[in-house]
Amino acid sequence: MKVVSIISTKGGVGKTTTAANLGGFAADAGLRVLLLDLDVQPTLSSYFTLALRAPAGIYEMLAFAERRIEQLVSRTAVAGLDLVLSNDDRGELNTLLLHAPDGRLRLRHLLPALAPLYDLVLIDTQGARSVMLEMAVLASDLALSPVTPEILAARELRRGTLQLIEDIAPYRHLGIEPPPLYLLINRLPPVSSNARLIQQTLRQVFQDHAGVRVLDTDVPAIEAYPRAATRGLPVHRVEFRQPAGRVAPTALQTMRTLASELFPQWQERFALVTGRPDAQATAGSASHGERP
Ligand SMILES: Nc1ncnc2c1ncn2[C@@H]1O[C@H](COP(=O)(O)OP(=O)(O)O)[C@@H](O)[C@H]1O
Ligand SMILES: [Mg+2]
Repeated sequence: MKVVSIISTKGGVGKTTTAANLGGFAADAGLRVLLLDLDVQPTLSSYFTLALRAPAGIYEMLAFAERRIEQLVSRTAVAGLDLVLSNDDRGELNTLLLHAPDGRLRLRHLLPALAPLYDLVLIDTQGARSVMLEMAVLASDLALSPVTPEILAARELRRGTLQLIEDIAPYRHLGIEPPPLYLLINRLPPVSSNARLIQQTLRQVFQDHAGVRVLDTDVPAIEAYPRAATRGLPVHRVEFRQPAGRVAPTALQTMRTLASELFPQWQERFALVTGRPDAQATAGSASHGERP
């Protein structure tokens, strides 16, 4: 089971969008995927229609160490894509975890219960520095941080996200290595041809940070993302054909490239995802239940 936290100390950079679309894409590739919504504002929790709503959610999971899957896990309308709902309406978890001796490690300690059931766990987080965010990173094999191409965002990243990674470094002494941080350039303006330049600049800014990598994949700013969110669908199902006159790759191509760069071990499955409505049954649901 691979665990990925999607983090940024800045809001509106595309964390929830990335979690929903990467999760939906991996599920359509036949992987068993679990989304954890750690944001107090339940944006990810309301992205997909639910096929089955569990009585409990992230609050019971973290506050009471609830492990019963039927209590915790809701099923989305996308086959193979499950979700632990955000239900910490009053924002109590952060304080609770701050004062618990095992607070920052609580999620990490709960993950073995999920390992036999899922291939991939994606953790969506709130855009602010918090105990919850540190807890998510400490539970992850890798941290993925969307960055929008303004230089301001890069500065914020330096101050916020990198500081977070440095602050959890002492957990090394407990045998917990901070995960590598992958930066994903998101919302690249379609007309600008300076994608490469932005990537080079980001690479230069972070070249002396071991453990930080700027991904080769970038995500263009296209209207398919908000449209997919409105329809409650993973974006690769909404835009799998090249719209006339568009230079940027389709959302399907982008998600496939991103998923393959993050998880090369599943590349062959990803290549088979077509996004076409008639294909979901064969590519996705038919293979769920098998080990990939
Ligand atoms: N690549 C993109 N192209 C166009 N719109 C995007 C893209 N990525 C995200 N958005 C839009 O930006 C807004 C903020 O994204 P969201 O994922 O909610 O950010 P965060 O979770 O980091 O606060 C949403 O309306 C989303 O649809
Ligand atoms: Mg969000």
